[in-house]
Amino acid sequence: MAPPPEELRLGYDVDENAIRFSNYFHLLRELVHLSCGWLPLAPDFEVKYALADHLHDDARAVSKVRRRLYELRHPSDYPGAPADQMAELLGRLGAADTPAEYVAVAYGEAKPALLRAFRIHLEHLDPVSDEPSLRLLRQLAGRQERHIAELGPGADGPLPVIDDLGALPIQLKTEPRALHALPPLVEPARDDFVQVTVEGDPFLARELYVNDPDENHVPVEPEEQRHFFHALMDAEICAAELMARNSHEHPEMPWEFHVDMARQTWDEMRHAKLHSLLMPKELDCQWGDYPVGFSYFRSVYAHDLLGRLALFNSTSEQKAMWRHSHRRKVLVERGQEQIAQVFDYLLADEVPHVHNGSRWGAHLCGGDESAYKCKIRELREGLDETGAPAGEPVPQ
Ligand SMILES: [Fe+2]
Ligand SMILES: [Fe+2]
Repeated sequence: MAPPPEELRLGYDVDENAIRFSNYFHLLRELVHLSCGWLPLAPDFEVKYALADHLHDDARAVSKVRRRLYELRHPSDYPGAPADQMAELLGRLGAADTPAEYVAVAYGEAKPALLRAFRIHLEHLDPVSDEPSLRLLRQLAGRQERHIAELGPGADGPLPVIDDLGALPIQLKTEPRALHALPPLVEPARDDFVQVTVEGDPFLARELYVNDPDENHVPVEPEEQRHFFHALMDAEICAAELMARNSHEHPEMPWEFHVDMARQTWDEMRHAKLHSLLMPKELDCQWGDYPVGFSYFRSVYAHDLLGRLALFNSTSEQKAMWRHSHRRKVLVERGQEQIAQVFDYLLADEVPHVHNGSRWGAHLCGGDESAYKCKIRELREGLDETGAPAGEPVPQ
């Protein structure tokens, strides 16, 4: 017997659908922008980690929403600009004075309103003519549920103030909404139990960070491994913070740049998390046992975007690839397989991070790769053999 015919629902028309996706676009884009801005200022490691993970989800969501808008309404003025009620919510998101205030609005109001709109959309769309939206929204709703559970009120939170954010009007044929950056960072924030000093951990020797095979020292004794991995965890957090700020401070860059920065921010925070788990399991120490310092972070952050990419992605990370592979080899020979495996993953992730440098560095040089290489050479001249500008070690 033939199966019963599927019900034809004929939900939203194409315009209503495009308006809904335009509203999602505006909210998600500003969540990525502001989470990138606040991440370095959030002191709690777990909050920082969650922000990195979620902003990476949201950056990819923006790409998919843009693609769906292109499918529905190309070529037209979508996503336009948000109208009053959405602009008011975005204004409150942008007006937070502290990371805690930002998280309260983003996870207590904005994300729950977004999730509710996704659910309404899913209930009313036509599952056949609009199946691409159905598949996409199911995925995006699942992610927002997880984000709200991790940093927000969870499923039991109050109903969102905006009943259906997707149905808000969109202003077509107006100027795109400008994104504003937070003030430049003075320094990033760490958990209150982590001691921040000018010189960082004095235990760390320069030989740990040189690239010369005759001079590089792989930490093999328990005490030096403890200090080394602790400093490496902080260096990973600093790397995430630099990438997040590269995105936040440069809204004029193409959207793919922000997706690349979001991915690297999450990667670096995952590396930090890996070290935070490795330390108590393998090394009998934990996050906060030793002091950390921000001199290397400051020296890179002081540059413009081109300088940061040249010094960090195309120099520090490029040189760290050799050291990670060297460290892995020495540790495998000594039978420390678990610790060696960590370096193997760090090395694998470093390849796209170095590529981010060449891709976007060349973009900033008008597509001229050789001009970018010149810039790298010029900036490297001011560095010592560890890659640091003023005799500070580069813990990577
Ligand atoms: Fe890393
Ligand atoms: Fe990296």
